[in-house]
Amino acid sequence: MKKRDLLTLYDLERAEIEAILERGIALKSMRASGERVHTLPGAVLGMIFEKASTRTRVSFEVGMVELGGHAVYIAPEGSQIGRGEPIADTARVLGGYCHGLLIRTFDQSRAEALAASAPVPVINGLTDQFHPCQLLADLMTVRELRGTLGGLRYAWIGDGNNMAHSWLNAAALLGLELVIACPEGYDPDPEITAQARRIMQERGQGSVEIVRDPVEAARGSDVLSTDVWASMGQESAARARAEAFAGYCLSESLVREASADPIVLHCLPAHRGEEIAEEVLEGPHSAVWRQAENRLHAQKAVLERLLA
Ligand code: CP
Ligand code: NVA
Repeated sequence: MKKRDLLTLYDLERAEIEAILERGIALKSMRASGERVHTLPGAVLGMIFEKASTRTRVSFEVGMVELGGHAVYIAPEGSQIGRGEPIADTARVLGGYCHGLLIRTFDQSRAEALAASAPVPVINGLTDQFHPCQLLADLMTVRELRGTLGGLRYAWIGDGNNMAHSWLNAAALLGLELVIACPEGYDPDPEITAQARRIMQERGQGSVEIVRDPVEAARGSDVLSTDVWASMGQESAARARAEAFAGYCLSESLVREASADPIVLHCLPAHRGEEIAEEVLEGPHSAVWRQAENRLHAQKAVLERLLA
């Protein structure tokens, strides 16, 4: 059987995403009742992190342990990756030890190169372009709270970054209504937007709108998402970005523009007072702590699907 990678959400069919969300919810409830689910006994996930991480690293590691397996953390410092060993060589060697690999890195092409040479499934744990695992947790959160993903209006307020791109992928696959508000110059990659629109057109479902006014995006929305203005790797541009994004803070007044009981999402880490107000992050509509927890459950469902 051909190995399956998860480099972007497009590596999954719509039905598979739905099955992952359902399984994630089931795994969550089994865990809550103390049931052990050892569906990956003895399996090992090699996790290459070329950027910092709290949630992704720990949720994948705990997920593997809970499924009866094990995870190995590999960082550039302390491994030959940091001394320039080609990713294709690393892929072949680690693929001989591990049953799956995860990579968090800069350019998507590096995750693709790992996947091209690894004989085992490769999972994207965030690149500059995409963050598919986070989106599965986000969708699971909406599904848990609303029972459905359809018929809702989804607003993305802020940078057209890796998270916005994965929202575009999700909207295309699932036929969602997505509105993105970002300042000029910070739109999502036009090719990624065009691809999402093409898929929506072919399937006759879903829509993407890019607007400049955050109020216009928030108005009537059921799900409001945001993320940092300067992603990992963009630290030197943080000041200029903070200026460009002034007015794009997910504030209480913006939340009031939304539907009656909106869900507020943020993949974390958050910068209170920048892209999100403290009162919103900690407020009654915030689902961010549930969303962070759901990384564990949704990813366990992914691991079962790819590694079993
Ligand atoms: N949301 C997320 O991916 O968090 P980490 O950077 O902590 O993994
Ligand atoms: N857009 C952020 C997400 C962090 C989880 C980044 O890439 O740094």
